[in-house]
Amino acid sequence: ETEPQWHWRCQPIEAVHRGLHPFELDHLSAVQPSGNHKVLHRHPIRDPANVPPRSLRATHRWDAEHVRLPCAPESKYPVETDDGTSEIESRWGMIERALLRPISNSKQLQAAILSYNTTYKGQWSFRALHKLFNEDLDESESRCFFEDLLPRISRLALRLPELIRAPIPLLKQNQTTALTLTQEQISCLLANAFLCTYPRRNTLKRKSEYSNFPDINFNRLYQSSGASVLEKLKCIFHYFRRVCPTERDASNVPTGCLTFVRLSGKPEDEVNWYLSGAPLSSIPMHINAGGTIEDEGIGLLQVDFANKFLGGGVLGQGCVQEEIRFVICPELLISKLFTECLLPTEALLMVGSERFSNYTGYAGSFAWAGNHEDRTPYDSSRRRHTAIVAIDALSFGQALQSHQYREDLILRELNKASIGFRHALVTPAPGVATGNWGCGAFGGDPHLKALIQMMVCAHHCRPLAYYTFGNRHLRDDLHVLWQLFRTHGTTVRQLYGVVRRYKKDGEGQSLYAFVLDELKKLHKHKKAAKEPTAI
Ligand code: AR6
Repeated sequence: ETEPQWHWRCQPIEAVHRGLHPFELDHLSAVQPSGNHKVLHRHPIRDPANVPPRSLRATHRWDAEHVRLPCAPESKYPVETDDGTSEIESRWGMIERALLRPISNSKQLQAAILSYNTTYKGQWSFRALHKLFNEDLDESESRCFFEDLLPRISRLALRLPELIRAPIPLLKQNQTTALTLTQEQISCLLANAFLCTYPRRNTLKRKSEYSNFPDINFNRLYQSSGASVLEKLKCIFHYFRRVCPTERDASNVPTGCLTFVRLSGKPEDEVNWYLSGAPLSSIPMHINAGGTIEDEGIGLLQVDFANKFLGGGVLGQGCVQEEIRFVICPELLISKLFTECLLPTEALLMVGSERFSNYTGYAGSFAWAGNHEDRTPYDSSRRRHTAIVAIDALSFGQALQSHQYREDLILRELNKASIGFRHALVTPAPGVATGNWGCGAFGGDPHLKALIQMMVCAHHCRPLAYYTFGNRHLRDDLHVLWQLFRTHGTTVRQLYGVVRRYKKDGEGQSLYAFVLDELKKLHKHKKAAKEPTAI
């Protein structure tokens, strides 16, 4: 079994595309600014395709509903004066001064960043950066970074007041709100994150203003250790090499847009899984032991195995599915600036991100593997036709393994996936590309999570492409179940009824064996009830 075409079971991927071109079905309707969709560029876009859309101008805000930008006039910072007293200064002035001075090594970079984060002097030590430049990169690569790339990143960061001229709303809990930004705006916001300029985002105190938000300043990454940290930094450097204009040439600046939608479920639209009569065989299904979601899921809704704090450990040690996706597509990182942590009935949809890097390995063996040329076309709103939905599974440590079969927790996962996969489109929705959601770092059972995602896809009529990440047993087990679903027309309700009984009645049996047995019994019984034997 070395030929990739033999890695799959059930139906070919073309069936998941419903015979259409992978990019024929939209994930979102066209961008339309409204009260709950803030668009940070001038709409409609009149700029030619090779020019980034212009920034919208709107009244400045400095409040709890919007991102506090380091360049806001209200952004102030205490500085010690020579005579030992302390004065309040404009933070942006301090940042400008620090970044316009020449910086030629990682110690100086650390000093520059600390000059406008003085509270953390003596606390922050950028070990990973020092290691990268002193031990990993060769001298010419290091020189190139400090002479060419860092000045470009700094110049881009300092264009913040010019590129962001409207307040950026926070995507807060319990609201279905959307935000569209240009790739150029995102690059500038990320340059600021790289240089750790965001105010009020460094404190680790609980109950601080942003304690419910992910981290965004990159200092934690610079402070982390582990081989994958250096490789993640290489991905990020590569992104900036691609998107930062040079002094003479801005033709490399990306010209598309991204939309981030916080999907927030209301109690009244929660699915009643006991009543769902959708047959599991009603949707096309492709199960593949080879390939990854990002490589094979083109045109489909690609699942991010997320942390409720978006990005998880991407700015720390983490290096599994979500973190890898966020460093090969760094524009996703900007979700961390404005997305409050997800509630059990919430998801985040991200449309339009570009992939910049290739990689090899996974977790400890992860390595940057050079440039990726993303050929994904744009939709009518200039977004790349790539849709990624972040859904955070429950985390089951070793001791909690058996909890995942509790009905309330199965329901939590069904509802979480349901928020992510449901759609309000008039056209048929694209399929879902997913895999062992919640089954790595979070310790879930892949058979259970696969069945949960099958039920959700069937209920919402979304074809399913499932990538088992090399697990052939899982692929073959799911194939057997799928054949049974097809033969007997098993419905979501029936499958749910069996799965929820596993914890009570399935002792000593695997979930797979239990579900198979119980469904066989159920269908035999049904058949017998329908066809009275003629004696
Ligand atoms: N494509 C398909 N399947 C994959 C891919 C891929 N690119 N990468 C991994 N898998 P994990 P979780 C499979 O552990 O358990 C992060 O820190 C592979 O079988 O990333 O939901 C987040 O921020 C892997 O074991 O997701 C959260 O904090 C499995 O998917 C936390 O991890 C699960 O991948 C989420 O953990």
